[in-house]
Amino acid sequence: MSRNEHVKTIEWTGGAVRLVDQTRLPGELVFKDISDHRELADSIRRLEVRGAPAIGVAGAMGMALAAAKSNAPSMDELRSDIRAAAELLTSTRPTAVNLRWAIDRSLHVADDDSIRNEDELRRRLIDEALAIYEEDRELSRMIGRHGADLLSDGDSVLTHCNAGGLATAEYGTALAIIYTAAEEGKRIHVYADETRPLLQGARLTTWELMQHGIDVTLLCDSAAASVMARGWVNEVIVGADRIARNGDVANKIGTFPLALAAHRHGIPFYVAAPYSTLDPTLSDGAEIPIEERSADEITTIGGFRLAPDDVKVFNPAFDVTPAELITAIITDLGVFRFPYGPSLLAKNSPSDA
Ligand code: MRU
Repeated sequence: MSRNEHVKTIEWTGGAVRLVDQTRLPGELVFKDISDHRELADSIRRLEVRGAPAIGVAGAMGMALAAAKSNAPSMDELRSDIRAAAELLTSTRPTAVNLRWAIDRSLHVADDDSIRNEDELRRRLIDEALAIYEEDRELSRMIGRHGADLLSDGDSVLTHCNAGGLATAEYGTALAIIYTAAEEGKRIHVYADETRPLLQGARLTTWELMQHGIDVTLLCDSAAASVMARGWVNEVIVGADRIARNGDVANKIGTFPLALAAHRHGIPFYVAAPYSTLDPTLSDGAEIPIEERSADEITTIGGFRLAPDDVKVFNPAFDVTPAELITAIITDLGVFRFPYGPSLLAKNSPSDA
């Protein structure tokens, strides 16, 4: 991979999904071929493929796999296999709404009664998955273009988790803004939070930015406020897993304290996400389901025990940042500021839901 080439996080190879196994990074760049939707569901659960937009693409590809591999002898039975696959795939990650959004798009296609036979239905689900993949690539570029104007030459941006090319079909959301600014000739430095407990910042964001020659410094999460207090951060930019109608944002656990610290220091706090991350069905963040993951993600690291065997653990994977702490939400449609009106939801309005 050359310096400016973006790794193909996920792609359809015709009969299989090829994805970067992100649990192996930064040690090794390993591609994995998956031809069964149940195996893909496990892969999403294990975070081999992760990041809200990327798991949306994976979900749609999983639907295409389920249809391709089903031997159902009739349209009714094929549709029933597809609905079962939708249920399994949707259950893998409850917070990132892009997954449900993409699977619902595939289900909508599957229910089209102008489809004449099983082969046409299988073909249409592949086409839909490819359309979602291509659209996601385009959305990332648009987010990058809208957000880059907010950055100045010489800025230092703090980010959390990984909202880069590895979290999307290509290029990213928060990191797309940094890539675009850099392509425009701005010198941007990034502080990457390590992002406990699964270290997406340390393992993935630093790797990805270094591949592209972006100057990056790794911080442990608890250093973020001190770095802000020293005056070293010009902007905070993070991604999102789900955004409610009022602009409350669910993102990787640790995002909310960053927004509080940024507010205390008068630092702009931006959220970057495609329209597919907006959930028009939820009025505010209290309604966003928060995924809780297993205790051993906190009590062990690389098989090594960090805490007593029977310790009680609370491991929410996401938190909700209230809209009033967010300076702006940058989507493929532009830059939106609090309080948010219907224009934020223009492509994903409640009537389309
Ligand atoms: O648990 P993960 O690694 O899937 O969490 C990812 C994040 O929280 C990202 O910030 C979010 O999905 C935005 S990705 C462009």
